[in-house]
Amino acid sequence: MNIKGIKNDFPIFREHPGLVYLDSAATSQKPKAVIDAVANHYRTRNANIHRGIYKISEEATAAYDAARDAVAKFINAPSSRNIIFVRNATEGINLVAHAFARSRLKKGDVILATLMEHHANIVPWHMLAKDRGIKVAFTNVTLEGYLDEEDFKKKLTSNVKLAACTHASNVLGTINPVKRLVAYANKKGIPVLVDGAQAAPHLPVDVHDMGCDFYVLSGHKMLAPSGIGALYMSDEMIDALPPFMGGGDMIEAVTTEGFTYQPAPLKFEAGTPAIEAAIGFGEAIVYLQKIGMKAIRKHEIELTKYALHQMRKIRGVTVYGPKKAEDRTGAIAFSVDGIHPHDLASLFDAENICVRAGNHCTMPLHENVLGVNATTRMSFYIYNDMQDIDKAIRVLNNIIRTLK
Ligand code: ALA
Repeated sequence: MNIKGIKNDFPIFREHPGLVYLDSAATSQKPKAVIDAVANHYRTRNANIHRGIYKISEEATAAYDAARDAVAKFINAPSSRNIIFVRNATEGINLVAHAFARSRLKKGDVILATLMEHHANIVPWHMLAKDRGIKVAFTNVTLEGYLDEEDFKKKLTSNVKLAACTHASNVLGTINPVKRLVAYANKKGIPVLVDGAQAAPHLPVDVHDMGCDFYVLSGHKMLAPSGIGALYMSDEMIDALPPFMGGGDMIEAVTTEGFTYQPAPLKFEAGTPAIEAAIGFGEAIVYLQKIGMKAIRKHEIELTKYALHQMRKIRGVTVYGPKKAEDRTGAIAFSVDGIHPHDLASLFDAENICVRAGNHCTMPLHENVLGVNATTRMSFYIYNDMQDIDKAIRVLNNIIRTLK
């Protein structure tokens, strides 16, 4: 992979020479190809989809549908009808929570989440707990930053109706053995929702092989515009679950007495969607596939291995998550003795390095496993190189030297 060439594809690095962007777990930068695809849509075929019986509307519909096909192929879904466009992974999880709760949950039922979930995969379940009297249970995380598989198996009791687990942690970087987890759960007839927001941008994903019933991803973390994401649903679920939101486009017929709805996936897409963002999402996938997800993963393992090795040499630095780069993505949360994460992030910023500080929307993980309120996080993507890491390590060393 020609990294130099890749950085040139991203206009932001020309706007900000020397910028070291290490916050791709929050959102990724956008290549020119994606920016152009969005602008081109507005310039050449801007119209609503599935409505106009005129040329540019039909072209817009075709481009939107092609983006859905691209997402389906990217995660090896059986067909594009298994892909629902949503705003982001969070909306995908909320959609499942509502549709699933409406048709399948009753008081006393349990949703099994994990302690390493992002709030997006906790709060919708807490909301159901409040509204419907269900319970939320959590699988433990080991001190080494792995999901405790024995605890997961133990907690798959008969009242668990859904297991919800991240594919990769946005803090620890841990890549969970989702195929195995799905197999344990499915053996007991329990469906699994996998949060792929931090995995789909970084490694090959095959939902067919994984066997999950739900998989969510966010476009903006994988080079696409904000406001577009996807929810994969298995054939069984997509036909069985009722719609979540009602409105235009999802209906077949409406009367004063009621309505009937479209087959999947349109029954889940009420109102005008983010058409241009979906088209940008399709272009982002084309771009990622040109590089190849295996090559992306290899590059990220190299960066992560190097960064972990350099960080572990610095006294006073605690790095969280698995020690082995092969077991994790390039999201690396860490603490520095005596320096608040927010101060650290500001000092990095003064050197033109973007990192994130805080609880990274994982308060239960910080409180129950890491034992700190906040951490600093570097996270890598395809446009990062060894020079970026060298600079971050040099700056980190300087900060520690200056403040101690
Ligand atoms: N979920 C995103 C992060 O981890 C925003 O930063």
